[in-house]
Amino acid sequence: MYRAPSVIGIGYNAVMPAFSITGLAGQKSLAGTIPVYGAKNFVLPAMAAALILPGETVLEQVPEISDVAVMSDILRELGATLQTADGVLKISAPRLASNIGASAKSLRASVLLIGPVLARTGTVTIPHPGGDLIGERPIDLFAQGFERLGAHVSEDGDRYTFSAPHGLSGGEFFFSTVSVTATETLLIAATLAKGTVVLVNAAMEPEIVALADMLRAAGARIEGDGTPVITVRPVSLVSPPPTTIIPDRIEAATFLALGALAAESLTIQNVRPDHLAAVLDVCERMGVPLSIGTDSITVRAPERLAPIRVRTHEYPGFATDAHPPIMVCLTQADGESVLIESIFDGRLKYTEELVRMGADISLMSPHRARVVGARALQGADIVTPDIRAGLAFMLAAITANGTSRIGNAHLIDRGYARIEERLRAVGVSIEREI
Ligand code: UD1
Repeated sequence: MYRAPSVIGIGYNAVMPAFSITGLAGQKSLAGTIPVYGAKNFVLPAMAAALILPGETVLEQVPEISDVAVMSDILRELGATLQTADGVLKISAPRLASNIGASAKSLRASVLLIGPVLARTGTVTIPHPGGDLIGERPIDLFAQGFERLGAHVSEDGDRYTFSAPHGLSGGEFFFSTVSVTATETLLIAATLAKGTVVLVNAAMEPEIVALADMLRAAGARIEGDGTPVITVRPVSLVSPPPTTIIPDRIEAATFLALGALAAESLTIQNVRPDHLAAVLDVCERMGVPLSIGTDSITVRAPERLAPIRVRTHEYPGFATDAHPPIMVCLTQADGESVLIESIFDGRLKYTEELVRMGADISLMSPHRARVVGARALQGADIVTPDIRAGLAFMLAAITANGTSRIGNAHLIDRGYARIEERLRAVGVSIEREI
Protein backbone atom coordinates (compact mmCIF):
# COMPACT_ATOMS: atom_id res chain seq x y z
CA MET A 1 0.00 0.00 0.00
CA TYR A 2 1.16 3.53 -0.77
CA ARG A 3 2.37 5.55 2.24
CA ALA A 4 2.53 9.32 1.80
CA PRO A 5 5.63 10.98 3.22
CA SER A 6 4.72 13.16 6.22
CA VAL A 7 4.35 16.88 5.50
CA ILE A 8 3.10 17.68 8.95
CA GLY A 9 6.33 16.72 10.66
CA ILE A 10 6.86 20.11 12.30
CA GLY A 11 4.29 19.12 14.93
CA TYR A 12 1.87 21.22 16.93
CA ASN A 13 3.58 24.10 18.72
CA ALA A 14 1.79 25.95 21.50
CA VAL A 15 2.74 29.43 20.26
CA MET A 16 1.50 29.13 16.68
CA PRO A 17 -1.84 30.80 15.80
CA ALA A 18 -4.48 28.13 16.20
CA PHE A 19 -8.18 27.41 16.44
CA SER A 20 -9.41 25.50 19.45
CA ILE A 21 -12.61 23.56 18.76
CA THR A 22 -14.69 21.50 21.18
CA GLY A 23 -16.43 18.81 19.17
CA LEU A 24 -20.09 17.84 19.12
CA ALA A 25 -19.30 14.12 19.58
CA GLY A 26 -21.41 13.25 16.56
CA GLN A 27 -24.46 15.33 17.58
CA LYS A 28 -26.26 17.04 14.73
CA SER A 29 -27.15 20.27 16.48
CA LEU A 30 -25.84 23.14 14.33
CA ALA A 31 -28.58 25.54 13.32
CA GLY A 32 -28.97 28.95 11.77
CA THR A 33 -27.63 30.84 8.78
CA ILE A 34 -24.07 31.06 7.54
CA PRO A 35 -23.08 33.56 4.83
CA VAL A 36 -20.66 32.82 1.99
CA TYR A 37 -18.24 35.64 1.17
CA GLY A 38 -16.71 36.74 -2.14
CA ALA A 39 -14.59 34.17 -3.98
CA LYS A 40 -10.87 34.13 -3.22
CA ASN A 41 -10.27 32.60 -6.62
CA PHE A 42 -12.03 35.45 -8.42
CA VAL A 43 -10.92 38.45 -6.39
CA LEU A 44 -7.24 37.64 -7.06
CA PRO A 45 -7.54 37.54 -10.89
CA ALA A 46 -9.87 40.58 -10.73
CA MET A 47 -7.14 42.49 -8.88
CA ALA A 48 -4.63 41.44 -11.54
CA ALA A 49 -7.00 42.48 -14.34
CA ALA A 50 -7.44 45.91 -12.73
CA LEU A 51 -3.83 46.62 -13.73
CA ILE A 52 -4.70 46.70 -17.44
CA LEU A 53 -7.87 48.78 -17.12
CA PRO A 54 -7.84 52.56 -17.57
CA GLY A 55 -8.96 54.76 -14.67
CA GLU A 56 -10.14 53.31 -11.39
CA THR A 57 -11.38 49.73 -11.03
CA VAL A 58 -13.92 49.17 -8.27
CA LEU A 59 -14.37 45.68 -6.82
CA GLU A 60 -17.33 45.04 -4.51
CA GLN A 61 -17.94 42.27 -1.96
CA VAL A 62 -14.22 41.73 -1.57
CA PRO A 63 -13.55 39.14 1.16
CA GLU A 64 -11.30 40.20 4.08
CA ILE A 65 -8.80 37.39 3.57
CA SER A 66 -5.05 37.53 3.91
CA ASP A 67 -4.45 36.52 0.26
CA VAL A 68 -6.10 39.82 -0.73
CA ALA A 69 -3.82 41.68 1.70
CA VAL A 70 -0.70 40.02 0.22
CA MET A 71 -1.87 40.66 -3.36
CA SER A 72 -2.59 44.30 -2.38
CA ASP A 73 0.98 44.67 -1.10
CA ILE A 74 2.39 43.26 -4.33
CA LEU A 75 0.23 45.64 -6.40
CA ARG A 76 1.39 48.60 -4.30
CA GLU A 77 5.03 47.54 -4.78
CA LEU A 78 4.35 47.62 -8.52
CA GLY A 79 3.13 51.22 -8.23
CA ALA A 80 -0.67 50.77 -8.09
CA THR A 81 -2.84 52.81 -5.73
CA LEU A 82 -5.34 50.86 -3.63
CA GLN A 83 -8.08 52.02 -1.30
CA THR A 84 -10.25 49.68 0.68
CA ALA A 85 -13.28 50.14 2.94
CA ASP A 86 -16.37 48.07 3.77
CA GLY A 87 -15.66 45.31 1.28
CA VAL A 88 -15.00 47.73 -1.60
CA LEU A 89 -11.54 47.79 -3.15
CA LYS A 90 -10.53 50.57 -5.57
CA ILE A 91 -7.45 50.07 -7.72
CA SER A 92 -5.75 52.37 -10.19
CA ALA A 93 -2.41 51.92 -11.85
CA PRO A 94 -1.50 54.81 -14.14
CA ARG A 95 2.15 53.69 -13.96
CA LEU A 96 3.50 50.20 -13.37
CA ALA A 97 6.95 48.81 -12.51
CA SER A 98 8.11 45.55 -14.09
CA ASN A 99 9.69 43.83 -11.14
CA ILE A 100 7.42 41.62 -9.04
CA GLY A 101 9.04 41.44 -5.59
CA ALA A 102 9.83 38.64 -3.20
CA SER A 103 6.35 38.74 -1.60
CA ALA A 104 5.16 36.82 -4.66
CA LYS A 105 6.96 33.77 -3.23
CA SER A 106 4.26 33.48 -0.57
CA LEU A 107 1.33 33.66 -3.01
CA ARG A 108 0.99 31.25 -5.92
CA ALA A 109 -1.69 33.52 -7.45
CA SER A 110 0.97 36.19 -8.00
CA VAL A 111 1.57 34.40 -11.35
CA LEU A 112 -1.63 36.16 -12.47
CA LEU A 113 0.40 39.38 -12.59
CA ILE A 114 2.68 38.13 -15.37
CA GLY A 115 -0.04 38.86 -17.94
CA PRO A 116 -0.98 42.44 -17.07
CA VAL A 117 2.54 43.61 -16.24
CA LEU A 118 4.02 42.09 -19.41
CA ALA A 119 1.21 43.41 -21.60
CA ARG A 120 1.45 46.89 -20.05
CA THR A 121 5.23 47.39 -19.71
CA GLY A 122 6.75 44.99 -22.26
CA THR A 123 8.67 43.07 -19.61
CA VAL A 124 8.16 41.41 -16.24
CA THR A 125 10.38 39.59 -13.78
CA ILE A 126 8.90 37.32 -11.12
CA PRO A 127 10.33 34.91 -8.54
CA HIS A 128 9.13 31.34 -8.70
CA PRO A 129 5.73 31.72 -7.04
CA GLY A 130 4.98 29.96 -3.77
CA GLY A 131 1.74 28.52 -2.48
CA ASP A 132 0.33 25.51 -0.70
CA LEU A 133 2.10 22.23 -0.03
CA ILE A 134 -0.26 20.29 -2.29
CA GLY A 135 2.13 19.07 -4.97
CA GLU A 136 4.02 20.25 -8.02
CA ARG A 137 2.90 23.68 -9.23
CA PRO A 138 5.14 24.55 -12.18
CA ILE A 139 4.76 27.58 -14.47
CA ASP A 140 5.69 25.93 -17.78
CA LEU A 141 2.27 26.65 -19.30
CA PHE A 142 2.70 30.36 -18.63
CA ALA A 143 6.09 30.33 -20.37
CA GLN A 144 4.80 28.35 -23.37
CA GLY A 145 1.69 30.51 -23.68
CA PHE A 146 3.52 33.81 -23.66
CA GLU A 147 6.16 32.47 -26.07
CA ARG A 148 3.30 31.59 -28.42
CA LEU A 149 2.21 35.24 -28.19
CA GLY A 150 5.70 36.43 -29.16
CA ALA A 151 7.34 36.91 -25.74
CA HIS A 152 10.85 35.80 -24.83
CA VAL A 153 11.19 33.91 -21.54
CA SER A 154 14.41 33.41 -19.57
CA GLU A 155 15.30 32.02 -16.14
CA ASP A 156 18.02 33.27 -13.82
CA GLY A 157 18.27 31.49 -10.47
CA ASP A 158 14.75 31.49 -9.06
CA ARG A 159 13.61 34.50 -11.14
CA TYR A 160 11.89 34.41 -14.51
CA THR A 161 11.90 37.25 -17.03
CA PHE A 162 9.22 37.53 -19.70
CA SER A 163 9.77 40.21 -22.34
CA ALA A 164 7.80 41.45 -25.35
CA PRO A 165 9.14 44.95 -26.01
CA HIS A 166 6.97 45.40 -29.12
CA GLY A 167 3.82 44.09 -27.46
CA LEU A 168 2.14 40.68 -27.57
CA SER A 169 1.02 39.31 -30.91
CA GLY A 170 -2.08 37.31 -31.74
CA GLY A 171 -1.87 33.53 -31.99
CA GLU A 172 -3.37 30.23 -30.93
CA PHE A 173 -2.25 28.44 -27.80
CA PHE A 174 -3.16 24.91 -26.70
CA PHE A 175 -2.94 24.24 -22.95
CA SER A 176 -1.38 20.77 -22.62
CA THR A 177 -2.79 20.72 -19.05
CA VAL A 178 -6.00 22.48 -18.10
CA SER A 179 -4.93 25.28 -15.75
CA VAL A 180 -7.19 27.85 -14.12
CA THR A 181 -4.59 30.51 -13.40
CA ALA A 182 -2.74 30.07 -16.70
CA THR A 183 -6.04 30.50 -18.55
CA GLU A 184 -6.82 33.65 -16.53
CA THR A 185 -3.32 35.09 -16.98
CA LEU A 186 -3.33 34.60 -20.74
CA LEU A 187 -6.90 35.88 -21.00
CA ILE A 188 -5.96 39.14 -19.27
CA ALA A 189 -2.85 39.57 -21.42
CA ALA A 190 -4.70 38.65 -24.63
CA THR A 191 -7.05 41.62 -24.24
CA LEU A 192 -4.01 43.89 -24.84
CA ALA A 193 -2.49 41.77 -27.65
CA LYS A 194 -2.16 43.26 -31.15
CA GLY A 195 -3.94 40.37 -32.89
CA THR A 196 -6.65 37.81 -32.20
CA VAL A 197 -5.73 35.25 -29.53
CA VAL A 198 -7.35 31.81 -29.39
CA LEU A 199 -6.90 29.79 -26.19
CA VAL A 200 -7.64 26.08 -26.70
CA ASN A 201 -8.25 23.54 -23.88
CA ALA A 202 -8.87 26.49 -21.59
CA ALA A 203 -10.21 26.01 -18.07
CA MET A 204 -13.97 26.60 -17.72
CA GLU A 205 -14.34 27.59 -14.04
CA PRO A 206 -17.01 30.19 -13.12
CA GLU A 207 -14.18 32.50 -12.01
CA ILE A 208 -12.96 32.57 -15.63
CA VAL A 209 -16.42 33.54 -16.88
CA ALA A 210 -16.59 36.23 -14.16
CA LEU A 211 -13.20 37.55 -15.27
CA ALA A 212 -14.30 37.63 -18.91
CA ASP A 213 -17.49 39.46 -17.84
CA MET A 214 -15.38 42.05 -16.01
CA LEU A 215 -13.11 42.55 -19.03
CA ARG A 216 -16.11 42.66 -21.42
CA ALA A 217 -17.65 45.40 -19.25
CA ALA A 218 -14.45 47.35 -20.01
CA GLY A 219 -14.97 46.83 -23.76
CA ALA A 220 -12.96 43.62 -24.33
CA ARG A 221 -14.12 41.36 -27.17
CA ILE A 222 -14.05 37.90 -25.60
CA GLU A 223 -16.06 34.90 -26.74
CA GLY A 224 -16.20 31.30 -25.60
CA ASP A 225 -15.34 31.70 -21.89
CA GLY A 226 -16.93 28.82 -20.00
CA THR A 227 -16.03 26.54 -22.94
CA PRO A 228 -12.63 25.03 -23.82
CA VAL A 229 -12.01 27.55 -26.66
CA ILE A 230 -11.76 31.26 -25.82
CA THR A 231 -11.26 33.87 -28.54
CA VAL A 232 -10.04 37.37 -27.71
CA ARG A 233 -10.01 40.11 -30.37
CA PRO A 234 -8.01 43.34 -30.09
CA VAL A 235 -9.84 46.46 -28.91
CA SER A 236 -9.23 49.60 -26.81
CA LEU A 237 -10.40 49.22 -23.22
CA VAL A 238 -12.42 51.74 -21.23
CA SER A 239 -12.84 52.23 -17.50
CA PRO A 240 -15.30 49.54 -16.33
CA PRO A 241 -18.33 49.80 -14.03
CA PRO A 242 -17.93 48.24 -10.55
CA THR A 243 -17.40 44.48 -10.50
CA THR A 244 -19.07 42.34 -7.84
CA ILE A 245 -16.98 39.42 -6.63
CA ILE A 246 -19.00 36.23 -7.15
CA PRO A 247 -19.71 34.01 -4.10
CA ASP A 248 -16.98 31.57 -3.15
CA ARG A 249 -18.18 28.16 -4.30
CA ILE A 250 -15.49 26.38 -2.26
CA GLU A 251 -16.73 28.05 0.93
CA ALA A 252 -20.25 26.98 -0.04
CA ALA A 253 -19.05 23.39 -0.58
CA THR A 254 -17.29 23.45 2.80
CA PHE A 255 -20.46 24.63 4.55
CA LEU A 256 -22.49 21.96 2.73
CA ALA A 257 -20.08 19.36 4.11
CA LEU A 258 -20.43 20.92 7.57
CA GLY A 259 -24.21 20.72 7.30
CA ALA A 260 -24.10 17.13 6.06
CA LEU A 261 -22.02 16.19 9.12
CA ALA A 262 -23.53 18.17 11.93
CA ALA A 263 -26.59 20.31 11.13
CA GLU A 264 -30.08 20.14 12.44
CA SER A 265 -30.76 22.79 9.80
CA LEU A 266 -28.11 25.07 8.28
CA THR A 267 -28.96 27.71 5.69
CA ILE A 268 -26.04 28.74 3.52
CA GLN A 269 -26.59 32.22 2.12
CA ASN A 270 -25.11 34.01 -0.89
CA VAL A 271 -24.57 30.94 -3.06
CA ARG A 272 -24.80 30.28 -6.77
CA PRO A 273 -26.35 26.79 -6.95
CA ASP A 274 -25.50 26.70 -10.68
CA HIS A 275 -21.79 26.79 -9.72
CA LEU A 276 -22.22 23.82 -7.36
CA ALA A 277 -23.71 21.08 -9.55
CA ALA A 278 -20.94 18.53 -8.83
CA VAL A 279 -21.00 19.19 -5.08
CA LEU A 280 -24.79 19.01 -4.94
CA ASP A 281 -24.61 15.71 -6.82
CA VAL A 282 -22.14 14.37 -4.22
CA CYS A 283 -24.42 15.51 -1.39
CA GLU A 284 -27.43 13.88 -3.02
CA ARG A 285 -25.55 10.61 -3.54
CA MET A 286 -24.54 10.64 0.15
CA GLY A 287 -28.23 11.03 1.01
CA VAL A 288 -28.01 14.59 2.37
CA PRO A 289 -31.37 16.41 2.46
CA LEU A 290 -31.07 19.75 0.65
CA SER A 291 -33.47 22.54 -0.05
CA ILE A 292 -32.12 24.66 -2.89
CA GLY A 293 -33.26 28.26 -3.35
CA THR A 294 -32.13 30.89 -5.85
CA ASP A 295 -29.24 32.16 -3.69
CA SER A 296 -29.36 29.95 -0.62
CA ILE A 297 -29.24 26.25 0.24
CA THR A 298 -30.55 24.66 3.44
CA VAL A 299 -28.85 21.44 4.47
CA ARG A 300 -29.56 18.89 7.19
CA ALA A 301 -27.41 16.02 8.38
CA PRO A 302 -29.09 12.71 7.52
CA GLU A 303 -29.29 9.91 10.08
CA ARG A 304 -26.84 7.98 7.93
CA LEU A 305 -24.46 9.17 5.20
CA ALA A 306 -24.16 6.81 2.24
CA PRO A 307 -20.65 5.81 1.02
CA ILE A 308 -19.81 7.00 -2.50
CA ARG A 309 -17.05 7.24 -5.09
CA VAL A 310 -15.82 10.80 -5.81
CA ARG A 311 -13.27 11.89 -8.39
CA THR A 312 -11.95 15.44 -8.56
CA HIS A 313 -11.96 17.00 -11.99
CA GLU A 314 -11.67 20.36 -13.69
CA TYR A 315 -14.92 22.36 -13.72
CA PRO A 316 -17.73 21.45 -14.20
CA GLY A 317 -16.45 18.33 -12.40
CA PHE A 318 -15.96 18.05 -8.65
CA ALA A 319 -13.46 20.73 -7.52
CA THR A 320 -10.18 19.56 -6.02
CA ASP A 321 -10.48 22.34 -3.41
CA ALA A 322 -13.77 20.83 -2.21
CA HIS A 323 -12.23 17.38 -1.72
CA PRO A 324 -10.85 17.75 1.86
CA PRO A 325 -14.21 18.78 3.43
CA ILE A 326 -16.00 15.98 1.59
CA MET A 327 -13.32 13.52 2.77
CA VAL A 328 -14.49 14.18 6.33
CA CYS A 329 -18.05 13.29 5.27
CA LEU A 330 -16.74 10.02 3.80
CA THR A 331 -15.16 9.11 7.15
CA GLN A 332 -18.68 9.34 8.61
CA ALA A 333 -20.44 7.45 5.79
CA ASP A 334 -21.61 3.90 6.50
CA GLY A 335 -19.40 1.64 4.39
CA GLU A 336 -16.56 1.89 1.88
CA SER A 337 -15.97 5.06 -0.17
CA VAL A 338 -13.27 5.94 -2.69
CA LEU A 339 -11.89 9.42 -3.31
CA ILE A 340 -9.70 9.97 -6.36
CA GLU A 341 -7.72 13.22 -6.42
CA SER A 342 -6.85 13.77 -10.06
CA ILE A 343 -5.40 17.31 -10.04
CA PHE A 344 -2.66 17.57 -7.38
CA ASP A 345 -0.08 14.88 -6.45
CA GLY A 346 0.42 15.87 -2.81
CA ARG A 347 -3.12 16.72 -1.82
CA LEU A 348 -4.00 13.47 0.03
CA LYS A 349 -1.15 13.72 2.50
CA TYR A 350 -3.26 15.51 5.12
CA THR A 351 -5.40 12.36 5.53
CA GLU A 352 -2.76 10.86 7.85
CA GLU A 353 -3.94 13.40 10.46
CA LEU A 354 -7.57 12.30 10.02
CA VAL A 355 -6.36 8.74 10.58
CA ARG A 356 -4.72 9.94 13.82
CA MET A 357 -8.18 11.24 14.82
CA GLY A 358 -9.66 7.79 14.24
CA ALA A 359 -10.64 7.78 10.56
CA ASP A 360 -10.10 4.62 8.50
CA ILE A 361 -8.41 5.98 5.36
CA SER A 362 -5.89 3.99 3.29
CA LEU A 363 -3.92 5.65 0.50
CA MET A 364 -3.79 3.17 -2.37
CA SER A 365 -1.65 5.63 -4.44
CA PRO A 366 -0.82 9.36 -4.27
CA HIS A 367 -4.17 9.90 -6.01
CA ARG A 368 -6.53 7.34 -4.49
CA ALA A 369 -7.92 6.99 -0.98
CA ARG A 370 -10.12 4.18 0.34
CA VAL A 371 -12.27 5.31 3.24
CA VAL A 372 -14.22 2.98 5.53
CA GLY A 373 -16.83 4.41 7.88
CA ALA A 374 -18.43 5.39 9.97
CA ARG A 375 -15.65 5.86 12.52
CA ALA A 376 -15.99 8.10 15.60
CA LEU A 377 -13.29 10.78 15.57
CA GLN A 378 -11.28 11.93 18.60
CA GLY A 379 -10.04 15.48 19.11
CA ALA A 380 -6.34 16.03 18.36
CA ASP A 381 -3.68 18.73 18.05
CA ILE A 382 -2.96 19.19 14.37
CA VAL A 383 -0.93 21.57 12.22
CA THR A 384 -2.53 22.19 8.88
CA PRO A 385 -0.24 22.14 5.83
CA ASP A 386 -2.62 24.17 3.64
CA ILE A 387 -5.85 26.13 3.53
CA ARG A 388 -8.25 23.43 2.31
CA ALA A 389 -6.88 20.66 4.57
CA GLY A 390 -7.28 23.21 7.38
CA LEU A 391 -11.01 23.35 6.78
CA ALA A 392 -11.20 19.55 6.70
CA PHE A 393 -9.51 19.44 10.12
CA MET A 394 -11.97 22.04 11.41
CA LEU A 395 -14.91 19.93 10.22
CA ALA A 396 -13.37 16.78 11.71
CA ALA A 397 -12.83 18.63 15.00
CA ILE A 398 -16.47 19.79 15.01
CA THR A 399 -17.65 16.19 14.56
CA ALA A 400 -15.17 14.68 17.06
CA ASN A 401 -15.28 13.85 20.75
CA GLY A 402 -13.20 16.24 22.84
CA THR A 403 -11.14 19.30 22.02
CA SER A 404 -8.88 19.83 19.00
CA ARG A 405 -6.31 22.50 18.27
CA ILE A 406 -5.60 23.32 14.64
CA GLY A 407 -2.33 25.15 14.23
CA ASN A 408 -1.29 27.33 11.28
CA ALA A 409 -4.60 29.23 11.54
CA HIS A 410 -3.03 31.91 9.33
CA LEU A 411 -3.20 29.47 6.39
CA ILE A 412 -6.96 29.17 6.94
CA ASP A 413 -7.18 33.01 7.08
CA ARG A 414 -5.75 33.05 3.53
CA GLY A 415 -9.18 32.18 2.15
CA TYR A 416 -11.83 32.14 4.91
CA ALA A 417 -12.60 35.52 6.48
CA ARG A 418 -13.71 35.54 10.14
CA ILE A 419 -14.39 31.83 9.97
CA GLU A 420 -14.59 31.44 13.76
CA GLU A 421 -17.32 34.13 14.03
CA ARG A 422 -19.37 32.50 11.30
CA LEU A 423 -19.05 29.02 12.80
CA ARG A 424 -19.77 30.22 16.33
CA ALA A 425 -22.99 31.87 15.13
CA VAL A 426 -24.39 28.47 14.08
CA GLY A 427 -23.40 26.67 17.28
CA VAL A 428 -19.74 25.61 16.92
CA SER A 429 -17.62 25.94 20.06
CA ILE A 430 -14.50 27.58 18.59
CA GLU A 431 -11.89 30.03 19.82
CA ARG A 432 -8.88 31.61 18.16
CA GLU A 433 -5.73 31.25 20.22
CA ILE A 434 -3.11 34.08 19.98
C1 UD1 B 1 -6.35 27.31 -9.10
C2 UD1 B 1 -6.96 27.72 -7.79
C3 UD1 B 1 -6.75 26.64 -6.76
C4 UD1 B 1 -7.26 25.29 -7.28
C5 UD1 B 1 -6.72 24.97 -8.66
C6 UD1 B 1 -7.34 23.76 -9.31
C7 UD1 B 1 -6.75 30.15 -7.87
C8 UD1 B 1 -6.11 31.37 -7.31
N1 UD1 B 1 -6.31 28.96 -7.36
O1 UD1 B 1 -4.95 27.13 -8.85
O2 UD1 B 1 -7.44 27.02 -5.57
O3 UD1 B 1 -6.85 24.27 -6.40
O4 UD1 B 1 -6.95 26.09 -9.55
O5 UD1 B 1 -8.72 23.95 -9.42
O6 UD1 B 1 -7.64 30.21 -8.68
N2 UD1 B 1 0.10 23.08 -14.07
C9 UD1 B 1 1.18 22.79 -14.87
N3 UD1 B 1 1.88 23.83 -15.40
C10 UD1 B 1 1.57 25.12 -15.18
C11 UD1 B 1 0.45 25.40 -14.37
C12 UD1 B 1 -0.27 24.35 -13.81
O7 UD1 B 1 1.50 21.63 -15.10
O8 UD1 B 1 2.25 26.02 -15.71
C13 UD1 B 1 -0.68 21.95 -13.48
C14 UD1 B 1 -0.63 21.91 -11.95
O9 UD1 B 1 0.54 21.29 -11.48
C15 UD1 B 1 -1.88 21.11 -11.61
C16 UD1 B 1 -2.83 21.48 -12.77
O10 UD1 B 1 -2.05 22.14 -13.76
O11 UD1 B 1 -1.63 19.73 -11.67
C17 UD1 B 1 -3.95 22.37 -12.38
O12 UD1 B 1 -3.46 23.48 -11.67
P1 UD1 B 1 -4.00 24.94 -11.94
O13 UD1 B 1 -5.36 24.91 -12.52
O14 UD1 B 1 -2.94 25.72 -12.66
O15 UD1 B 1 -4.07 25.51 -10.45
P2 UD1 B 1 -3.95 27.01 -10.09
O16 UD1 B 1 -4.49 27.83 -11.21
O17 UD1 B 1 -2.60 27.31 -9.55
